[in-house]
Amino acid sequence: MKPKVYVTRIIPEEGLNIIREIADIKVWQEELPPPREVLMKEIEEVDGLLSLLTDKIDAELMDRAKNLKIVSNYAVGFDNIDLEAATKRGIMATNTPGVLTETTADLAFALLMATARRIVEGDKFVRAGKWKTWGPMLMLGQDIHGATLGLVGLGRIGYAMAKRAKGFDMKVMYYDLVRNEKAEQELGLEFVNLEELMKESDFVSVHVPLTPQTRHLINKKTLNLMKKNAILVNTSRGPIVDEEALYEALVNNRIAGAGLDVMDPEPPSMDNPLLKLDNVILLPHIASASVTTRTKMATMAAENLVAGLKGEIPPNLLNEEVLKNRKQ
Ligand code: DGY
Repeated sequence: MKPKVYVTRIIPEEGLNIIREIADIKVWQEELPPPREVLMKEIEEVDGLLSLLTDKIDAELMDRAKNLKIVSNYAVGFDNIDLEAATKRGIMATNTPGVLTETTADLAFALLMATARRIVEGDKFVRAGKWKTWGPMLMLGQDIHGATLGLVGLGRIGYAMAKRAKGFDMKVMYYDLVRNEKAEQELGLEFVNLEELMKESDFVSVHVPLTPQTRHLINKKTLNLMKKNAILVNTSRGPIVDEEALYEALVNNRIAGAGLDVMDPEPPSMDNPLLKLDNVILLPHIASASVTTRTKMATMAAENLVAGLKGEIPPNLLNEEVLKNRKQ
């Protein structure tokens, strides 16, 4: 009998076809994620789950799964999965690293530029018929070239961001738990502590995963260290930034602006005060959303899933420890 797989949203067909070759699959067809009760029911019978960052894969859910061998996340971030609980239950978990690095950095840099040069505000201004003449004081923004970029996190995406910044003659500093001297030499980066980074940067861009340690890493205290002309960019996970503190910093012009591809929660409630500010650009978590990259993510997630179902070691296994007791 073929293994059973549940896919929690429509993903590019290339990925679904890879799974179809070895498994019977059921795909949730709606735009919104499957409600919790649906997932709780579907998980009971399946051998594999292809999940998204909008699905909470916790102990309670995995306890319902009699046959579940692998959870393949269609994302590089995996803060939606309780990895420890998965390992304890002999369930493998995988993600999609690497394939979305450059696409995500493209968007992060676009957000940085759009916020600095008030692109969205300018577009709205023209459409609203407010453009009367060329103005010497109209929509003055911040220079990008020659400015200092502070990267909070120098993983794959942070590094890709540094490469882009170098093309704009930016000075780049970074903060991370682990120092990367090779990257420092390759790109001329400066390793600093978080406090110094917040104080010195004209742009701060966040590229750390969400963990208990990084939740609200950008908070009132760290935001208060920033320059008045500085701009915050977040393409990582919303809860890394304390949004209330960010709103205070923006509304009081403590900092010049923010570009956010991620929020807490997602989507934001329509009365979130950030929605009223002109000095913030908000995007619907689309940093990896190019046709090519989403297709690669689908293929990678499918290959991980199939390897796990065949009893092989999936290429992007997150919890190696599980190999001692994984479900067969
Ligand atoms: C991820 O992969 O973690 C992104 O947030 C979505 O591509």
